[in-house]
Amino acid sequence: MKRTELKINTKTKKYSVIVGSNILKNFNKICSKKKIIFEKSLIIIDKNVPNLLKKKLINNLKSKKKILYIFNANEKNKNFKSIRTIHQILFKNKFNREDCIISFGGGITGDVAGFASSTFKRGLKFINIPTTLLAQVDSSIGGKTGINNEYGKNQIGSFYQPDLVISDTDLLCSLPYREIICGYAEILKSSLIYNKKSFEYLDKNLKSILNLKSSIIQKAIINSCNLKKKIIIKDEKEENLRKVLNLGHTFAHAYEATLGYSKKLNHGEAVILGIKNAIRYSMQIKLLSKKNYTLINNHLYKIKMKHKFNQIFNVQDLNKILKFMKLDKKNRSDKVNLILIKNFGQIETNYQTNCNNIKKFLYEEFN
Ligand code: GLY
Repeated sequence: MKRTELKINTKTKKYSVIVGSNILKNFNKICSKKKIIFEKSLIIIDKNVPNLLKKKLINNLKSKKKILYIFNANEKNKNFKSIRTIHQILFKNKFNREDCIISFGGGITGDVAGFASSTFKRGLKFINIPTTLLAQVDSSIGGKTGINNEYGKNQIGSFYQPDLVISDTDLLCSLPYREIICGYAEILKSSLIYNKKSFEYLDKNLKSILNLKSSIIQKAIINSCNLKKKIIIKDEKEENLRKVLNLGHTFAHAYEATLGYSKKLNHGEAVILGIKNAIRYSMQIKLLSKKNYTLINNHLYKIKMKHKFNQIFNVQDLNKILKFMKLDKKNRSDKVNLILIKNFGQIETNYQTNCNNIKKFLYEEFN
């Protein structure tokens, strides 16, 4: 499949997302064509990226001065200390706004690199090269950057669009199955937001997607990116429409924070549990039909996630989960704002409920 270019025009920046196989080798050509010129670059490389891929990028990047920073990417290191370290490197090497940060890694690396870019001298150039499925389908596009703190996930951050995103699908070939499932969670989320046809496409091709069959995975990535593009060009800063992209995430973020961002449950796995909760909640309050609930739930079952909710959490965790749900950024009052689903392509972004209702609902996961 040839490469696909999505042009994203937001109020703050116009940029391209380029998706294709073996496109990293054209890194310099793409930058010149897009007129992204810089003398110095800081390449923030996710430690989890295999050495062979690291070399591939470094050899293909021509910049007068290249500095490498290997980032031990995990949710615990998505913090102020890492931002400070990156800023120190930039100051010591006299970077200015014309220079560039390049993120080469998964979603955590992209979020940290993006936040460091947006805050250094109020913003320097930022190129994102996502290496995980999750980052290619979701987090590298749309400009959300940020770090975690004791009050929860991504509680500190900014909207800062990249200058360019290069999603080389060949980079995905070394991903472990657990990482593929993580990205799949966001692909599934996009299909539920979009329409029934795209959900049916996933249901039919699930096995090929999880096996990273080239043409099918590229189509799935492009579909998700296209949906995200449509949303963010209308609502860059999540004032309204963009909230749909948080389907399942109010639960998911609270689960990750409750576990202290342990490796037991990574972001995509938390999103799968969150989607599972969101569809059951929607069905219980008669927003989603039983028939559609069953369709989606059966699909989730086929993904074969390692752990169930009640194997990860116990009843004593419920208060902590609720504490984090109350701190969610979307909440406007004492109530919790859930993102629920009415039908394929119809998302409810403003369902307010109180903690007791959610506690009762989550308690049922243990029966
Ligand atoms: N991952 C959700 C968003 O970008 O809005």
